[in-house]
Amino acid sequence: MKFQKVNTLKGEVTIPGDKSISHRAVMFGSLAEGLTEVTNFLQGADCLSTIDAFRKMGIEIENTPEKILIHGRGLHGLQAPSSILDMGNSGTTTRLISGILAGQPFESTLTGDASIQKRPMRRIMEPLSMMGGNIVSVNGNGCAPLHITGSPLHGIHYHSKVASAQVKSAVLLAGLYADGETLVTEPTLSRNHTEIMLRYFGADLRSEGKTAHIIPEPHLEGRKIDIPGDISSAAYFIAAGLIVPGSEILIKNVGINPTRDGILRVAREMGGNITLLNEKHDGEPTADLLVKYSPLHGVTIEGDIIPALIDELPIINIMAACADGTTIIRNASELKVKESNRIDVMVQYLSAMGCDITGTEDGMIIQGGQPLHGTEVDSHLDHRIAMSFAVASLVAEGKTEIEGSDVVTISYPDFYADLAHLCQ
Ligand code: S3P
Repeated sequence: MKFQKVNTLKGEVTIPGDKSISHRAVMFGSLAEGLTEVTNFLQGADCLSTIDAFRKMGIEIENTPEKILIHGRGLHGLQAPSSILDMGNSGTTTRLISGILAGQPFESTLTGDASIQKRPMRRIMEPLSMMGGNIVSVNGNGCAPLHITGSPLHGIHYHSKVASAQVKSAVLLAGLYADGETLVTEPTLSRNHTEIMLRYFGADLRSEGKTAHIIPEPHLEGRKIDIPGDISSAAYFIAAGLIVPGSEILIKNVGINPTRDGILRVAREMGGNITLLNEKHDGEPTADLLVKYSPLHGVTIEGDIIPALIDELPIINIMAACADGTTIIRNASELKVKESNRIDVMVQYLSAMGCDITGTEDGMIIQGGQPLHGTEVDSHLDHRIAMSFAVASLVAEGKTEIEGSDVVTISYPDFYADLAHLCQ
């Protein structure tokens, strides 16, 4: 797709449902007894991979434009999959489902696209094996395809080296099938959607600081879930509204869970004018965000905030490129093992646009304020790279061409239409 500089952004946008929460609604609804009804489900390719996997294990899931109906069969209701389970591009599906499959009385094989087959899976294989799980990387490289032979599991206290909600969730889900209590301690608290939603479904789960404890429960019960808009998707409009002169946009119904709201904290610290309206605080908190164009300045982003904005660092790079002064990002080596190596890819294409950016072992240093110019970008099968450069193009002189731009279907199928709607 080709993109051009725009004058300004005005109007309202309603963000589609949160990807992390949509996955969990399907998974936990499948393991619950009775009907789970989900509204504002994200119809992105990643979440459809999760639906497909549970259908292959005998769960009836009705997917209508208004809602998803999951006819859960209980913790022990899954059937051996009818074929290999295809995770597509979805790390969340792969890692969380592995925790569930480790404790089933059947064998299964998981695979996925070229990106997923390069992503590290030892981080879940290790704790699941400690619990008695039997998970083998078929090619012996610690990546998918994975072959899982379900086995009896025992509870452990796992001290995770990475602050990863996917690792934490895989262990907690395996904990549902263990013979005693399972605990996970993280170096920094990662997103806590699993804890919030499992508790809502009736699991015996409690969180104390950076440790989550789960006691196996004989059953979970079907629930109604209304999924908030995804702050990771809203981030592209937050950035666009802040960097395109004269912009004023209202972004409706955005999840503002404190384990995900790092983008708001950083954007404000950079000088961004963002007002929260219509805040709601039952279950997953939400708000409407009023974003106005603001001159931005560089900041240092490091430490405990990193997991709360890990997926937003590519778009934060674009904001930093448009900000006066230096932005330093540290402690973000996880960027190298996302859908692409997001340090290398951001450095490559932001440099090509004329930005002064240097990659480091665990982040990047950006000297902002240079004018950007259009370039050719390859998305590297990474939805967040495509959306970040689509936003950069709005302030770049000349034409920006994004190869593989349709990868946005992973998390935000209508992204380009919603962006065009705001462009005046
Ligand atoms: C996710 C957790 C994060 C995030 C990913 C979604 C989740 O990954 O980057 O997009 O839904 O649990 P890690 O847990 O590996 O950091």
